[in-house]
Amino acid sequence: MSKLSRRQFVHTSAAAGAGLAVSGRMAHAVQSNEKIGVALIGAGGRGGSHLSAWLGDKRTDLLTIVDVDEKAAASRADAAEKSQGFRPKIVTDMREVFDDKSIDVISTATPNHWHALCGIWAMQAGKDAYIEKPVSHNIHEGTALIAAARKYDRICQVGTQCRSATAQQEMVDFIQAGGIGEVNFARGLCYKRRKSIGALGDYAVPGNVDFNLWSGPAAYTDPKVTRPRFHYDWHWQRLYGNGDSGNQGPHQTDVARWGLGIDTHPISVISYGGRLGYQAERKDDNYVDAGDTPNTQVSIYDYGDKCMVFETRGLGVDNSDDAELNKLFKSTKGNKIGVVFYGSNGYCVQVSYGHSIAYDADMNVIKEFKGAKDHFANFLDAVESRNYKDLTADVREGHLSASLSHLGNISLAIGEQKKMSVKEATEHLSKIKSLDDNDATLQRTIKHLEKNGVDLEKYPIAMGPLLKFDPEKEIFPENEVATAMCTREYRAPFVCPTADKV
Ligand SMILES: NC(=O)c1ccc[n+]([C@@H]2O[C@H](COP(=O)([O-])OP(=O)(O)OC[C@H]3O[C@@H](n4cnc5c(N)ncnc54)[C@H](O)[C@@H]3O)[C@@H](O)[C@H]2O)c1
Repeated sequence: MSKLSRRQFVHTSAAAGAGLAVSGRMAHAVQSNEKIGVALIGAGGRGGSHLSAWLGDKRTDLLTIVDVDEKAAASRADAAEKSQGFRPKIVTDMREVFDDKSIDVISTATPNHWHALCGIWAMQAGKDAYIEKPVSHNIHEGTALIAAARKYDRICQVGTQCRSATAQQEMVDFIQAGGIGEVNFARGLCYKRRKSIGALGDYAVPGNVDFNLWSGPAAYTDPKVTRPRFHYDWHWQRLYGNGDSGNQGPHQTDVARWGLGIDTHPISVISYGGRLGYQAERKDDNYVDAGDTPNTQVSIYDYGDKCMVFETRGLGVDNSDDAELNKLFKSTKGNKIGVVFYGSNGYCVQVSYGHSIAYDADMNVIKEFKGAKDHFANFLDAVESRNYKDLTADVREGHLSASLSHLGNISLAIGEQKKMSVKEATEHLSKIKSLDDNDATLQRTIKHLEKNGVDLEKYPIAMGPLLKFDPEKEIFPENEVATAMCTREYRAPFVCPTADKV
């Protein structure tokens, strides 16, 4: 009885006493009065929001907390115990959860490199899965996740919660009903200050962390890391994270793609930028920041008749001289995280998760959309209905939106071999056609970098190649190096299967 709460013990005993052959959902239903048994996997920052969601929904019992950091798991378990009256089991290795028949659903807020494998293992074991964005660390993982969800008939929701926000749903309906005329172009923005994460070096892994399990599918770096802060800052190291285009980005690329009515990958991508400006920030020309993802990036996605641009700015974001964006965001300063849709008769702007604004062509407000709904509850609704079409953010949407980050990052990574002066970059982009004014976007980006003290002669911009992409085969037909970057080398036994082998 040591590991079971009294309450679970009573129900388990009742089931056993009744001689019931029970498994999975049924087993848990017998154990806990029909409540959905949840295991939270990854109890760090975002894990806290998952925890609150499960504790706040009367349909669920939070039975297990998995974290490779025992302190993180214990502190979340304390909170859960206070709220629900019994303590969830604490587990270090997620594979234990997949064997546990009392668990019906898992929700995962691990670092990105674990998302897909965790989701696939869970669905293979018959669990439904709520997986944080980006749903994959590379393109092929997303395809494999979709295959697993369909093969095992599981419900798989992605943590792009804007999909459940009435503000965004109503804005998208408004756009698609012609509210701002014809719309073929959208710009996603992640203007969000990200200071240097500290100097590149060898730092010890905290003693309370199982680093083998933390590393999982990624290379094991003989337990040391190269960043000062162990948790969270992995976002800015490619081995584990995808930079801000894969962190904040999937929320906005998802809204942009949704509003544009695009249900496929782009046919080409080009991306430029770099990890710039931290020498100026530290007033040290020799300073090397521990991150290797871009903090400044512009990616241009061509869908043939439609186009999306996604901009990341991690340096000082006081862009009060950008009159158009200031007006559209109703803000002259600070972070700008959102999406601008450019229509033939006006604009629609997502200014926050639960707020969007429609303007006429003269930038007069014509409509505002406000409100958000519980994205976790939407997942549970679909778990109950057993229909993945009831999800607002099914895994396929997550895959298409996460892939935008991967596509841009592939172009930019290749571009790191080819840094360009401002003149070269300007000339290069002038040869590339898109529905955006490519030159205006580049010049705005350059101005932003210069304003932040970046010496572009000394630290030039990386200019990625224009890469053609085959949306069906998910390969770059003319670039083998780029195609190889659609997956990664996995470290056994943490190997994410390909879609045909799930
Ligand atoms: N939807 C949103 O709005 C939103 C907001 C923030 C973060 N996120 C996403 O949530 C994820 C987590 O972000 P975070 O800020 O909480 O990071 P974090 O580093 O603070 O937390 C990650 C936690 O996962 C644990 N972990 C690592 N490997 C594990 C494993 N194999 N099994 C179990 N636990 C493991 C870590 O020990 C840590 O406690 C990211 O993918 C991020 O993109 C989403």
